Amino acid sequence: MKLWQSKEQNDVDMDKIDVKRLPNHIAIIMDGNGRWAKERNLPRSMGHKAGAEALRKIVSECSNLGIKYLSVYVFSTENWIRPKEEVSFLMDLLVEYLVKELDELHRENVVINYIGDITKLPEKCQKNLKNSKNKTKDNTGLHLNLCINYGGRSEIVKSFKEIYAEIKLGNISIDDVDENMISDHLYTSGMPDPDIVIRPSGEYRLSNFLIWQCAYSEFWFSNIFWPDFRIEHLRRAILDYQKRDRRFGGV
Ligand code: FPP
Repeated sequence: MKLWQSKEQNDVDMDKIDVKRLPNHIAIIMDGNGRWAKERNLPRSMGHKAGAEALRKIVSECSNLGIKYLSVYVFSTENWIRPKEEVSFLMDLLVEYLVKELDELHRENVVINYIGDITKLPEKCQKNLKNSKNKTKDNTGLHLNLCINYGGRSEIVKSFKEIYAEIKLGNISIDDVDENMISDHLYTSGMPDPDIVIRPSGEYRLSNFLIWQCAYSEFWFSNIFWPDFRIEHLRRAILDYQKRDRRFGGV
């Protein structure tokens, strides 16, 4: 089955979206950059560049719609096994993106945040991420979570280690450990869980993305590659989300 490939299906009238029932948190696995480039006989790096441009439009649309949180998978803990040149291109692209877009994102009232172990990133990435976070920290609009050197399993390990340290210090007992405590030690502490996870490119996996937080998320898949992902696809995903019946284990 082809999902959301025809123009006719993609057009979503804004007034069909119920602005009072928007998802609070949208998570996106930006997949298909390499295949998008391959289809055009371009190097994979051009797919990532086009992917960064697609992201820019989606950030603005989320901001305009009044979405509170957008988490995007930029680089996973597993992505280090890619060719050295591709990893280094992605790191440079991140810096370029932040340098180029910071002022405009700040004007759009976006709070830039990062999620993942950034200590393993090149110095210039760390510097730009921290600077972007600091500059936009008092904004009140969309929270953009750039998930970089992020992995859901390692995030859960981090949470367990922090809790264990507290137990060892005698600050808490093992009986105090509950789901809320584990959540409070994740990178997303204090944020709502994603309501919807969007994955384009015809893959149907979570790929270690926000695995704890997505326990009750809705999933939306599409066959198009991320660099072709546009505002109409986002609107379609939101509209479909609004048709879902979320029971959270109830009836
Ligand atoms: C997955 O596609 C994509 C990535 C691993 C990188 C995601 C990065 C971007 C969208 C652009 C960078 C964003 C910023 C903020 C700089 P893939 O390469 O695995 O595609 P494939 O499965 O078709 O090979």
